[in-house]
Amino acid sequence: MANQATDAAQQDPDDTRDPDEARDPRDPDLEIEDTAEAEAEPELDPEVAARRTAALAHVRQYGDPVLRTRARSVDRFDDALREQVRRMAELMVDALGVGLAATQVGVLNRVLVYRVHPQAPYAALVNPEIEWTGSEAEIMEEGCLSLPAVHVDVERAVHVRVRAHDQYGEPVMIEAAGLPARVIQHEVDHLDGVLVLDRISRQQRKEAMRAMREAPSAA
Ligand code: NI
Repeated sequence: MANQATDAAQQDPDDTRDPDEARDPRDPDLEIEDTAEAEAEPELDPEVAARRTAALAHVRQYGDPVLRTRARSVDRFDDALREQVRRMAELMVDALGVGLAATQVGVLNRVLVYRVHPQAPYAALVNPEIEWTGSEAEIMEEGCLSLPAVHVDVERAVHVRVRAHDQYGEPVMIEAAGLPARVIQHEVDHLDGVLVLDRISRQQRKEAMRAMREAPSAA
């Protein structure tokens, strides 16, 4: 998932507001406003932009069949897995993303990382299972590191409960609401070969495809 805008807004040197001062970072509606602002003002510090471009070169882009492939469960919690998680987190942070699924880096195992707030440590979920989804849903804009220039309104459950393991094999149970719940659902979709394009109307999909074709830096 991209939502690079959330990070981008906070790294914009012209943006002198303390992001935590006036806004409650837990309010997903406010995150969305950040996204809109950053879209209107997409300029990044050149060093940040260069790091982002370098990271995106490692992220599989739309059209790559691996993005349509279901990932397999992990059964070995070894150093290789932890190195994969570390590398994925690094790419996510450099790409200014809030989440990344293993399929997006061409590794077909059920691993995702996410970090909704720039100051927070990242979390890794291995073999995540969404075991409960609340009935309340909301529509919010999403991007995706694998879909350049695409920003689409996606309806998702507001609340989810997820069981998984961390990269050390310890069981974890997460009850998430709002943005983190959305990011987890987006990344679990990736592990099943599902993209945001599958969660929108035909008309929205047409517009998204056009945005991708016209994106200046499309891979
Ligand atoms: Ni994505």
